[in-house]
This record gives sequence, C-alpha cells and structure tokens, in this order.
Amino acid sequence: MRTPIIAGNWKMYKTQNEAFQLASTLKQRLSNLNSVKVVLCPPFTALASVKEAILGSNILLGAQNMHWEKEGAYTGEVSPEMLLTIGCKYVIIGHSERRSYFFETNQTVNLRVKSALKFGLIPIICVGERLEEREANKTEQVVENHIKGAFADLTGNLAEETVIAYEPVWAIGTGKTATPSQANEVHLFIRELLSSMFSKECADKINILYGGSVKPDNSKQLLDMSDIDGALVGGASLDADSFEKIVRSAT
Ligand code: 13P
Repeated sequence: MRTPIIAGNWKMYKTQNEAFQLASTLKQRLSNLNSVKVVLCPPFTALASVKEAILGSNILLGAQNMHWEKEGAYTGEVSPEMLLTIGCKYVIIGHSERRSYFFETNQTVNLRVKSALKFGLIPIICVGERLEEREANKTEQVVENHIKGAFADLTGNLAEETVIAYEPVWAIGTGKTATPSQANEVHLFIRELLSSMFSKECADKINILYGGSVKPDNSKQLLDMSDIDGALVGGASLDADSFEKIVRSAT
C-alpha cells in the first residue's frame, strides 16, 4: 500500500520568520500523524528554520529545485548535497513554473532526477499539460513525453524511489481543479505507462500526487480516487488551517 503524501509547495512565499511560525504551528497540529507523510517545501532561505521548527516530528523537509552537479561555479544555484545536509528528504523537480519561466526542459529535468537519486533525495517529478494541449486532446501525449523524458536512463529500481506529481497547468493557481475522475484518468494513464516502461510492481510502488488548486473543500474527493496517492498543494499550503484540513482529509 502506498502511504499518501501531502506536500506543501510554498513557492516564493514566506520569509524566514514567517516560515518558522507556520512550520511550528503545523508541528503542533500534525506531529503525531502516521498514516500520511507531510512534506513542507519552503524557499531555500527558509529551509534551515523550517527544519528547526519541525525537529522531533514526523514532518519532512523538501526543496523546490536543485542543480544536478555536486558543486561548481554555478552562480545562484543550490546543490543536492547542500539540500541533503540541511535536512531535506524530498526535492520538487520540473515544476511547470520552472519549465515555463526558467526554461527547464525534459533533459534538465532528467539530469536533476538522476542526480537527486544519486545523492539520496526523493524527487517529486512534476508533469502536466497546458490548457491548449488539453483542448487539443494532447494530454496523454504531453504527459507521456514528460514522464519518458524525466525517467530516461533510469532502471526500475531507481524509478520506484521517485514520486510523481500530476499538475495540469490550467489548474495551478486558477481555482479550476480537475474533477476527481479527470485527474484519476491521467493518474491511471501514468501508472500504466510506468508499468510498461518498468514493471507493474515498480509502477504500483510509485506515489502519484495530484496538484492544482487543491483546497480543503475538494481534497477528500480527489484523495479518495484509486490512483491519487496524495497532493502537491500550493496556495492552500500557506495557511495552517487549510493545510491541516487537507492533510486530515488524507487520513
Ligand atoms: P495551487 O495549489 O496554488 O494551484 O498550486 C499548485 C502547485 O503548483 C503545487 O506545486
């Protein structure tokens, strides 16, 4: 059985102090949960303070991006080892905002995924179609291209260490959510694809999260679907009440 994962992607929100406060509140409210993995992904500048705030709880730390090299002359970048030693277990890779605003490609996503796994970080690999692609009936084609690109050169043993987040771009920050059945249909497609690329056993081990306007009032219906194994939450993860409700709807 896959333990559900609820990850908060805080994007470029929360100063160090604000992040510490939010994480401390979440620790008080959520530290005893065992049936769901809670992951907080603050900006780089707040990783250390969030780590301190969640110390002694089950809450896990994640970053929002990383470079693939161990170190080097890459001004403005952060390495996998830096994330690991600050206490991260997860790292979001290939978010649609990275793909569209910072020109990430399947190839750079693949480099980051392989590097994260090599350093012992769990990549949360984001895939998903834009509105015009969905309207042109290209959802499966786009998602397949993202998955095949991200997983290039990986063996099944490594692939099963990853997490996937299906985030239709048209649902991110728009208040438009995929219906539970629309989302589950794509999750099933992804699982079948992984099964054909690796094996059914491998595909069955991979958590596939849904992301895109997940809120307390729609999370339960989404999480009840057969192949939705958690959520990657943006806006609603910035508020303790709403994030707590989403986490509890996964228990
Ligand atoms: P929203 O929940 O704000 O739509 O963001 C989703 C997202 O991009 C999570 O990575």
